Amino acid sequence: MKRNGWYKCINILIHEEKLNSAQPSGLVKKTYPAEVYLNGKWLAHNEAYISVFDRGFMFGDGIYEVIPFYKGIAFGLQRHLNRLSYCLNEIEIDLDVNTLREVITEAVSRAGIEDKDGAVYIQVSRGVAPRTHYFPQDAIPTVLLYGYPVQLEGFEKKQASVLVSKDLRWHRCDIKSTSLMANVRANNKAHAMGLDENTLVRKGFFTEGSHSSIFFVKFDKIYTHPEGPHILSGITRKIVTEMCRELNIKVVEKAVHIDELVEVDEIFLTGTTTQILSVKSMFRKEEDIYNSPKKGKITAKLQEAFIELTRNSS
Ligand code: PDD
Repeated sequence: MKRNGWYKCINILIHEEKLNSAQPSGLVKKTYPAEVYLNGKWLAHNEAYISVFDRGFMFGDGIYEVIPFYKGIAFGLQRHLNRLSYCLNEIEIDLDVNTLREVITEAVSRAGIEDKDGAVYIQVSRGVAPRTHYFPQDAIPTVLLYGYPVQLEGFEKKQASVLVSKDLRWHRCDIKSTSLMANVRANNKAHAMGLDENTLVRKGFFTEGSHSSIFFVKFDKIYTHPEGPHILSGITRKIVTEMCRELNIKVVEKAVHIDELVEVDEIFLTGTTTQILSVKSMFRKEEDIYNSPKKGKITAKLQEAFIELTRNSS
């Protein structure tokens, strides 16, 4: 069901719905991990420090990765390591990601999530050097890594309400850079309105969310922005497109224009901790531009296949 119209009381409406709904997928109460791995040492989180001249701090000159663990078992580890390696290569940081494998395993046990759902966060910056815009020659990369629990169950029972905003990011969104100013601003805008995500539009076309990939279902076909410099090459996005092929669901890697929303039957977001999240409504400024209170059948089918893959295939 689709509806167009103005909601003057958008905040009140959404707030009421939020009070009645469960916590969005991927979220648990945010706390610091007890221990973090920093440059070869495991340290209490409040004893781990970096230099003020770390280029990650000064320039956001670094990249990161998030790897999910289902009941302590990594999902898509090699794909995440490959993307980390691609990003390191793109920003010319010399680090063999295979050296992190053992540390990743240790992060899971140190975080006490060997049999729980969680994630490992990895961040690599160019390291410490006197401030110059060009890359310093001899800086040693700063490596930060830690595990933490994540609520990964129950995502299929949730539905998201999202904002639509202009995509103000740079033209290398394929690099998972720690310079996330445009993403955090976009996400914060949605959060302040009681919404779950901000979905971004470049020249009229949906690219992705502030921290998720986006898919549209139209006449039983799935549309998503093609890979390239304007989106992150999402691991979950890729897994979903592979699942579609197995389920005989046609995937078209073509960006959807905001004016095409009237033809859209289902929308869902994907991501490492988001997994596959059904979108029930989209707001632009204060206008309700998409509304589908019931989860679509293709979204449900993919969620079911995703649960099977993440929970029962290892
Ligand atoms: N975010 N697009 C953006 C901009 C993202 O930041 C993310 C993930 C995705 C989904 O990618 P993947 O399926 O590989 O997680 C798409 C991560 C999890 C984060 O920033 O925490």
